[in-house]
Amino acid sequence: MKEMVSGFSKKTKAEKAQWVAETFASNPAQTLEVFKTYTHPDPKVQELHDEFIENTLANYYLPFAVAPNFLIDHKVFAIPMVIEESSVVAAASKAAKFWADKGGFHTKIVGTEKVGHVHLNYFGPSEKLFAFFEAQQAAFEEALKPLTASMKKRGGGIRSLQLVDNTHKLEGYYHIALSFETKDAMGANFINSCLEQLAHDFSTKANEAFSAEEAPEVVMSILSNYVPHCTVRAWVSCPLEQLAYEGVDGATFAKKFCRAVAIAQAEPYRAVTHNKGIMNGIDAVVIASGNDFRAVEAGVHAFASRDGQYRSLTKAFITKTQELHFELEVPLALGTVGGLTALHPLVKQALDILGRPSAEDLMRITAVAGLAQNFAAVSSLVTTGIQKGHMKMHLLNLLNAEGASAEEKEALVAYFKDNTVSSAAVKQALNRLRQ
Ligand code: MEV
Repeated sequence: MKEMVSGFSKKTKAEKAQWVAETFASNPAQTLEVFKTYTHPDPKVQELHDEFIENTLANYYLPFAVAPNFLIDHKVFAIPMVIEESSVVAAASKAAKFWADKGGFHTKIVGTEKVGHVHLNYFGPSEKLFAFFEAQQAAFEEALKPLTASMKKRGGGIRSLQLVDNTHKLEGYYHIALSFETKDAMGANFINSCLEQLAHDFSTKANEAFSAEEAPEVVMSILSNYVPHCTVRAWVSCPLEQLAYEGVDGATFAKKFCRAVAIAQAEPYRAVTHNKGIMNGIDAVVIASGNDFRAVEAGVHAFASRDGQYRSLTKAFITKTQELHFELEVPLALGTVGGLTALHPLVKQALDILGRPSAEDLMRITAVAGLAQNFAAVSSLVTTGIQKGHMKMHLLNLLNAEGASAEEKEALVAYFKDNTVSSAAVKQALNRLRQ
């Protein structure tokens, strides 16, 4: 068994790398060499990345790309995307181009409400807790004013604050639910600071008003990443005759497309993969723009299950006037100020390329990337199948994994224009070429 380490975070970066390589790596010298290769030569740049987290050993690169030709609410965008999956940017770009001459993408912000809770234990008579809360509410709100003053100046702040009886969900469980408007900030720090201040004031007053045995107790205070009232809608629509796709006529294509989306509405096995395709687009923009993709993922999937069954986030139908309408509604708590947006140089560039969007604009753009991705995936699935495009894009990865030279890559990319790509086929073709 390997030995545990103490005081690891206090070691220098070189000592940490050395220890990890010598204790765990199969080839320590190679591990240290790779760490070195993936360290920025400019110490100032590297220091910035080192300090994002603790125990940084190297930088883990992901490609930063753009998907051009997105027409969104009559404005043209090149959307920055950070993602490792080979076909995603190509698919987004293809969908963007497809819709650009059909009116492009349209969006609407449905809501921007963020939420957080002070979770409480209380086992006494419910009326007594509500009476106490009602009597103290104005004082609680007053005490929060210093924390909310600057957000208020920007048009945000606390929108509501109420005590909720949750004892039907869990014995003795109440919470204070707060809703917030955080404008261009994602708002996690602002929300959590407000909640912790409230929790502190609540405990102090409660300890004065109740006996020690009966006093309500704060369990925890935290924002919620479930934001069903912070959503954006994105949609495309066009007459069926304009929809011909990969040799399939518009009416047939639209029918197949709507059926595929209906299956993802009805069947969770399909819905999860369908929504994963949407998240290919959404996460790539969320990461490029320095936002928290885990928060977005958690909130999106909870939203997809909001009626008790996990369903597709998109809807598609043919209108009475014979148009395809294809729409996504998705919760997105995003920020364009604060957090990594002010720190990561590539995030700053991504936001600049997007025209320095407000948080609402970023919600629109991100939702469009998700809708475009879903259109590309489902269109392929109901026509050519997904593997043709996917493996074409994956070809370079397979060739790189086999150590192909630049000349070999060129020859095999040409060869695979008319041949089916698979890992075995690539190995065979490379062997043939080398003989
Ligand atoms: C692959 O990353 C995403 C897809 O599976 C999405 C889908 O099936 O709709 C192609």
